[in-house]
Amino acid sequence: MPFYQDFLWGGAISANQVEGAWNIGGKGISVADVAQLRDPAKDYQQQVAVNLQQINEACRDLDDRNYPKRRGIDFYHHYKEDVRLLAGMGFKVFRFSIAWTRLFPTGEEKQPNAAGIKFYQQLISELRKYGIEPLITLSHYEMPLNLALKYNGWADKRVVRYFYHFAKTCFQQFNNVKYWITFNEIDSITRHPFTSAGIIAENSNNLLQDEYQALHYQFLASAEVTRLCHQLITGSQVGCMLTKLTTYSATVKPTDVLAAFNRNTLNYFCSDVQVNGEYPPLILQYFKEHQLKIKMSSTELKVIRENTVDFVSFSYYMSMLAATDTNSLQMTNGNTVIGGKNPYLPTTDWGWTIDPVGLRISLLELFDRYHKPLFIVENGMGAYDKLNDDGTVHDQYRINYFCRHLQEVKKAVDAGVKLIGFTSWAPLDLISASTSQMSKRYGFIYVDLDDQGRGSGKRYKKDSYYWYRDVIKSNGATLSKFGKKEPI
Ligand code: BG6
Repeated sequence: MPFYQDFLWGGAISANQVEGAWNIGGKGISVADVAQLRDPAKDYQQQVAVNLQQINEACRDLDDRNYPKRRGIDFYHHYKEDVRLLAGMGFKVFRFSIAWTRLFPTGEEKQPNAAGIKFYQQLISELRKYGIEPLITLSHYEMPLNLALKYNGWADKRVVRYFYHFAKTCFQQFNNVKYWITFNEIDSITRHPFTSAGIIAENSNNLLQDEYQALHYQFLASAEVTRLCHQLITGSQVGCMLTKLTTYSATVKPTDVLAAFNRNTLNYFCSDVQVNGEYPPLILQYFKEHQLKIKMSSTELKVIRENTVDFVSFSYYMSMLAATDTNSLQMTNGNTVIGGKNPYLPTTDWGWTIDPVGLRISLLELFDRYHKPLFIVENGMGAYDKLNDDGTVHDQYRINYFCRHLQEVKKAVDAGVKLIGFTSWAPLDLISASTSQMSKRYGFIYVDLDDQGRGSGKRYKKDSYYWYRDVIKSNGATLSKFGKKEPI
């Protein structure tokens, strides 16, 4: 049986991982432009942390050699060809983000940069040409570096005003766009505060306090721009976005179950605020226990209460295990986390646990908790791919990954979950958010560039390209032909 008739099939990218052209068309420098190529073997937190010395060095170095996100895959100049390739797969929706610094180079300008507006208007009309619905993320790990240096990012309330101005400009200029997400993986502030919120650890007296303060300001900003979007674009739909870090108890020991419960509860807290419009009691208790004094006025809380989201979007890549005694666990990398390795499940080349049933569990849990339409806006597998001499890439492992995940998605939908759509991460190979590697490939489309930016930049269709095209064409019916094998 296929999916709903109007199910939105597509893919997702972010500006800083694809566009390149970091200093072209009046664009300013963002927090992504100072990220260096990292060694994936190192601890995840080390990979995404950037210190003041590194930022200063990056600002002096105007080359893109050491900073892969500055060059991306040059989507800025290739977007027409890329959109044509996406249309070839029958995309119904395409998720992308607006680089704040392309519109407001330092974040503080009053007038937007016309060249930046023009670029996104052209991209949107190119998508419309093929009947592809845009899904725009306002903030995806790419805030102006200036706001990070001057205000320590979102730890300072003044940034709410700058973001509001940026969002208002987007709603006015791209007013034919229906679907919006305010902050990518909003919960990630506590895992990588610089990338998500421009917080430089050395400039914080109390980092944990600043992280939760920044989160509060992002909740406020998100609520304010949700209201604005509804006012300016009739029929618009605004979603929150969560990194769905599904955690299982490592054993049936009640204390391990409790450890898993605590991790999941902390993971849910952000969407709880954005869906229910209020802070859950357990997180307020957590603030007390950690002596966090988060400034939140009754006016701010009222805005948050009155402007909740229309849908809940999330990324899902992996699951992990929790236990009270973490020494009892073998640890493995995951999406911005390190968690316990599940002995029943395989992992990707980067150590991320492959768990299709975990996606079904996530859908059921989220729908049961919020009763809101859901949108899977990221799911995919980073892998080493080989481009053959004849221009083919045989990526059966990626087909297996998606097929098993989508089969589980279908079961959740059949169980009653209301799901708007599915956007794979990412339809084109791009620069990894965590490691800035190009060799961590996610795409259905191979981009001929290596970690150092060497290569022709040419695009090639992988085997998965044709597979996904058929899935979309049949509205998911071909998934059932994949085999009746139990998912991993
Ligand atoms: C998500 C991010 O957390 O994971 C993306 O929203 C990112 O930006 C994706 O690319 C995969 O992570 P990575 O580190 O493999 O690029």
